[in-house]
Amino acid sequence: MDNIPTHVAIIMDGNGRWATREGVEKVEGHKRGVDSLRNAVKAANDWGVKFLTVYAFSTENWGRPADEVKALMELFSIVVIREAQELAKAGIRLSFIGAIDELSTTLQEQIEEVSKIYIEKEKMTLVVAMNYSARWDIVNAAKKMVKQSELRKAVNRGVESNRSDVEEFSSYLSTSFMPDVDLVIRTSSEQRLSNFMLWESAYAELYFTDKLWPDFSKEDFAKALEWYNGRQRRFGIR
Ligand code: IPE
Ligand code: IPE
Ligand code: MG
Repeated sequence: MDNIPTHVAIIMDGNGRWATREGVEKVEGHKRGVDSLRNAVKAANDWGVKFLTVYAFSTENWGRPADEVKALMELFSIVVIREAQELAKAGIRLSFIGAIDELSTTLQEQIEEVSKIYIEKEKMTLVVAMNYSARWDIVNAAKKMVKQSELRKAVNRGVESNRSDVEEFSSYLSTSFMPDVDLVIRTSSEQRLSNFMLWESAYAELYFTDKLWPDFSKEDFAKALEWYNGRQRRFGIR
């Protein structure tokens, strides 16, 4: 494939339906979802993707039953500790976006720890969207931008930058360290973005598959890349 997307973003959906289909507890579906994530990370890294952002927990997901939320948080905690070193060995940097300060202090500390791990030969960044939603991020960015402009006014300095408003606004988003999304993948046959990367996906290609997230394999990832490879992106100018 000659056209590998730089930034792939995945909405990992369908763990609950997988559990129902298999006749097991929902948390089992989330556990199997972690196995799928491992496969997807490996596949993305092997294909030369530079940024892989995965939607792990949305700000709306707090509205789920308390025991499910608790199980999910425990799972994140285990995964973050267990996988970080392995990822680092494979040249994968682990990064987080979302309202991290609203998570448990234990989880926050773990996130801080793993974010400091030294990566010798960096190949890819895995960005975990944890307690994230696009609207949360956009509102936050707007607040920061207003604050910054008030500060500038207070010291009586005009805007000196040559950047466009769009570029300036983007710089306040939690995703400012990466390029826009090229390809969004959503599993489990839902065709919606559910508050994920609304700003960054402005010109992304959207790929939907019927596969439930725990069933999503390396081959399925390759299929999505093949589909992307055949798309003609125009960005409104061609
Ligand atoms: C996605 O699977 C995982 C998270 C939201 C954490 P779901 O739990 O949403 O699975 P379905 O949509 O109920 O099948
Ligand atoms: C999106 O899936 C959130 C994550 C995958 C973490 P949801 O299952 O929460 O979204 P809806 O409810 O189907 O829109
Ligand atoms: Mg769902």
